[in-house]
Amino acid sequence: MSEPLVEVSDLVKTFPIKGDGFLQRVVDQVQAVSGLSFDIAAGETLGLVGESGSGKSTAGRAILRLHEPTSGSIKFEGREVTELDSKAMQELRQRMQIVFQDPYASLNPKLPVNDIVGEPLVIHTKMNRKERERKVAQLLSDVGLQPEHGNRYPHEFSGGQRQRIGIARAIALDPDFVVLDEPVSALDVSVQAGVLNLLRRLQDERGMAYLFIAHDLSVVRHVSHRVAVMYLGKIVEIGERKALFQTSAHPYTRALMSAVPVADPHRERTRETITLEGDVPSPINPPSGCRFRTRCWRATDLCAAEAPELVEHTPGLLTACHHPIGPDEVVTRADTNSAVLAD
Ligand SMILES: Nc1ncnc2c1ncn2[C@@H]1O[C@H](COP(=O)(O)OP(=O)(O)O)[C@@H](O)[C@H]1O
Ligand code: SF4
Ligand SMILES: [Mg+2]
Repeated sequence: MSEPLVEVSDLVKTFPIKGDGFLQRVVDQVQAVSGLSFDIAAGETLGLVGESGSGKSTAGRAILRLHEPTSGSIKFEGREVTELDSKAMQELRQRMQIVFQDPYASLNPKLPVNDIVGEPLVIHTKMNRKERERKVAQLLSDVGLQPEHGNRYPHEFSGGQRQRIGIARAIALDPDFVVLDEPVSALDVSVQAGVLNLLRRLQDERGMAYLFIAHDLSVVRHVSHRVAVMYLGKIVEIGERKALFQTSAHPYTRALMSAVPVADPHRERTRETITLEGDVPSPINPPSGCRFRTRCWRATDLCAAEAPELVEHTPGLLTACHHPIGPDEVVTRADTNSAVLAD
């Protein structure tokens, strides 16, 4: 087995909450990411899924040190990223890039597209203007845009085209690893497939690894080799895509999955419908033990007392649950509706 490209161990990111007073004392902490561990191999896509507020964006940014991690280790090709000085980090940034969710907010509206896409080349390479123009034209064509539109401004493009501009900029320096933070969530469903196909083609051609962040399973199902499901700052289940979709043992994953329609009419008819009660609790004061217990229909005293570890209950899949769902077990609406849990 070759060494992973990216290795994340026990990554923690907390944000201080400051009081209103003059001294702005820290009054509390948001535990946005509470001990994530996973690997990503070269050329692989790891999907990272969870409801809004589960800490996905914070994790993606912390891995690139756009947010300084509170603790934990991030290795890139075996090198500890958290210990790099700013010069070494600047060099490494060329190889790790990010595409943001909102193509409207992430592109400078005052710059023509040629400058937006060419900026990393100005900062990180010694290309002269001619070389740069040629490279930018090539990049625009690689992402399905017309190179002659490079002198236009972001507002002259549609949402899907703007996301392609963001992608062209992210791949300008031939990165090995790209964090895709909900890259199609802000786009019309009709243009999502085009952008997903583009990302897949670029990965095939260039061998980039992706951390593909999404808030539901329907998108990552089509693009991921492996999938990690996050809830309140922790991974609750992680494994091979097929194993996760076919034999997920975690109540939260099963709930997310029940929201995804399936094409096969027979399977669609027998699809589980799991309704989760309530909202995601606050990450300022998360539930004791298993963080999902306040919404879980299988929760017991053990779940409140002890946080479950990730364990392999089915091959190719690690699940953090004291009472995992068996491979042949079907969850019914009646099961989940009985979930009224005392704190
Ligand atoms: N800069 C910040 N300061 C304080 N809290 C933050 C900050 N960024 C994110 N959070 C909090 O961290 C939690 C996780 O946020 P985020 O990583 O954006 O989740 P996701 O991307 O899964 O929606 C949320 O409760 C959010 O309010
Ligand atoms: S550990 Fe308990 S509360 Fe958590 S998901 Fe499993 S059964 Fe539900
Ligand atoms: Mg996010």
